[in-house]
Amino acid sequence: MDHKNWIAILDFGSQYTQLIARRIREQKVYSEIIRYNTPAAELARRQPSGIILSGGPSSVFEPGAPLADPAIYDLGIPILGICYGMQMTARMLGGEVQPGTTREYGSARISVLHEQPLFAGMPAENDVWMSHGDQVRTMPPEFTAIAETGTCPVAAMGCASRRIYGLQFHPEVVHTPRGTEILRHFIFDVCTCRPDWEMAQFIRDSIESIRRQVGTEHVVCGLSGGVDSSVVAVLIHKAIGKQLHCIFVDNGLLRHDEARQVEETFGTAFGLDLHVVHAQDLFLNNLKGVTDPEKKRKIIGKTFIDVFAAEARRLGAVKFLAQGTLYPDVIESSSPIGGPSVTIKSHHNVGGLPPDLKFTLIEPVRELFKDEVRAIGHELGMPDAIIQRQPFPGPGLGVRILGEVTAERVTILQEADLRVQEEMLSLPNYRDIWQSFAVLLPIQTVGVMGDSRTYENVVAVRAVQSQDGMTADWFRVPYDVLAGISNRIINEVRGVNRVVLDISSKPPATIEWE
Ligand code: XMP
Repeated sequence: MDHKNWIAILDFGSQYTQLIARRIREQKVYSEIIRYNTPAAELARRQPSGIILSGGPSSVFEPGAPLADPAIYDLGIPILGICYGMQMTARMLGGEVQPGTTREYGSARISVLHEQPLFAGMPAENDVWMSHGDQVRTMPPEFTAIAETGTCPVAAMGCASRRIYGLQFHPEVVHTPRGTEILRHFIFDVCTCRPDWEMAQFIRDSIESIRRQVGTEHVVCGLSGGVDSSVVAVLIHKAIGKQLHCIFVDNGLLRHDEARQVEETFGTAFGLDLHVVHAQDLFLNNLKGVTDPEKKRKIIGKTFIDVFAAEARRLGAVKFLAQGTLYPDVIESSSPIGGPSVTIKSHHNVGGLPPDLKFTLIEPVRELFKDEVRAIGHELGMPDAIIQRQPFPGPGLGVRILGEVTAERVTILQEADLRVQEEMLSLPNYRDIWQSFAVLLPIQTVGVMGDSRTYENVVAVRAVQSQDGMTADWFRVPYDVLAGISNRIINEVRGVNRVVLDISSKPPATIEWE
């Protein structure tokens, strides 16, 4: 059967579903996560080269357990079921699954029984990552076991004539060291995919489709200086030039010198039509006397919308609003079985615009993961300083200044934060840090300077590693780097006489302090 060179991943709710999609795209094959119950007719129409059935939290024995359309097994499209996807396949095709009494969770060692095609070229024994309760007891007719473990006689199964396979373990996680090889065998040998998912091609295609969609209309884009909105702005600009108008709101709560850098990079170097709104005073005024963290967030959010809307109105007739929506946001909002529950909301998610501003959304990177957006930025010639930038919260320093936000406190924090940034950059593994920053505490402590006592501010240093911001561990910053940060802040930043380190993980702490 002719196929369109992509892999469909049916999502049964596993925490690893996105990882499967990424692993496939890393092999330069396009993959898309779709609903677990997508009708076979739709798949027949869209012609994926192969179908992967993800794992999931359910047991096939639960009433209402999610099931694929049984007709997918008759499409003649290769299928790979992973964990729950394998158990469901076994059951739907006439095999038997045995309910688990305990959940097997962790590393296991499989013995390969049949090398071809999934384990081709691999050793006879391999470490894999298991996470399951139920397991296949009897395979469907025509299936054979292709790998086993001491406790699991059918650790993998397959039916070569129907090109349907199942893995009890997770090939997509790093704890299955040769998992990528198994996935490669599936997508290239079984599904006969070609590696054609290239960012350069994506850029060419999306420029064409942006031109087609926009025609002679105009587009407005909220630029924050973050990775997503920046890449979107540069991409759209490449497609339609001066029909794109970017609005950058300087809320006064950005990092040291950031507003100027954004202006210089996008306005000057990239030549975007950039409208910078200097709204520092308005934000500070609205925040006067406010100490409650939620109130601060709301005020900052609302002020942003007001300023953005006023500027957008000044632009006159604009039909489209560009947004840097990413694939994980799209999957989460459409996932049938929950999926990951929290998202890091983009700060220019201008959802709350007043009704007189009716835009059609244009979201050119909604099919992409963050690392792919970075690759596009790179391809578009954007500087590393922008595309490798750490995430920065929408309310900015507003949630890192505990208590009231004042102009003076913003300056102290910007100066302290700059020292944290500069010193952290000296780390060879800087890229492993998800976020690193300073926090200004609402207390003063006693210190001594020369012969006299001081009574000044405390700054906390926070550095975390994380995959997605939903869980995080504190980053083990080497002592000498911490010493450099502390010395520089205390000696160079007026108004600070003490530096402390935050060594809490999320959960139960959060990354930001407010
Ligand atoms: P927490 O503090 O909840 O942060 O552990 C998780 C991630 O989200 C970012 N964050 C925000 N981003 N608006 C944003 O755009 C916000 O109000 C906000 N609060 C937290 C935070 O920087 C971290 O990456």
